[in-house]
Amino acid sequence: MIPLIRVSNRKPTDLTHQLLSKRRLTAQMNDPLDIDSRQDLPQEWLFLLREYPRDAWLGHGNLGPLTNFWLNRHDGFRNFGNTLISMLRQFREGQIPPERFGGMFAPQLQHFLTELHNHHMIEDHHYFPVFMEAEKRLLPGFELLENDHEVIHHRIETVIGSANELIGQLQEGDRDAIRRASDNYAATSDMLLMGLKRHLADEEDLIVPIILSRGESELGLS
Ligand SMILES: [Fe+2]
Ligand SMILES: [Fe+2]
Repeated sequence: MIPLIRVSNRKPTDLTHQLLSKRRLTAQMNDPLDIDSRQDLPQEWLFLLREYPRDAWLGHGNLGPLTNFWLNRHDGFRNFGNTLISMLRQFREGQIPPERFGGMFAPQLQHFLTELHNHHMIEDHHYFPVFMEAEKRLLPGFELLENDHEVIHHRIETVIGSANELIGQLQEGDRDAIRRASDNYAATSDMLLMGLKRHLADEEDLIVPIILSRGESELGLS
């Protein structure tokens, strides 16, 4: 019996709740900041990135151990997401039999979603408040990132629902139902991973230049 996937509940702050309701409305009107439509952050939030462009990050004296660890976590999520995509593709192409797939896939997905959830909780409660205080001109940018966390959390819940449906069908053994459930899971997983990819890049573009301009110890991070 493959255990079903779960992730703890998330309690939105009043602010994110208000923003979420607002964004839900504006997303329907092609909001350029919507996680699925934006290509980049607005130029007026990128004044520090212009001073500290990505190719100057590596080896910068203010890129401390915590920032390094955090950037590695982001790369870990990107790589883990690709591993899950490739595992699903192998299953759908018949390279992994259904009786083996559930036992391989469920613990990996559980681990990925739990780690992602915990990462966002730490950012919301510990790191974002520090950066919001340090660089008030970027407050709207951090509100957007908080809103992204909410959107991603809803997608995590949708992925859990479709993954559990797939796990159930794998145990029932009906091939057509398994195919339908894996198609549905793939669609929800794509939505989650595409949004996550956008969020990780934008979050780095806002946060790393703040750290490089001040240093981890001045910000009270290390
Ligand atoms: Fe984040
Ligand atoms: Fe992050």
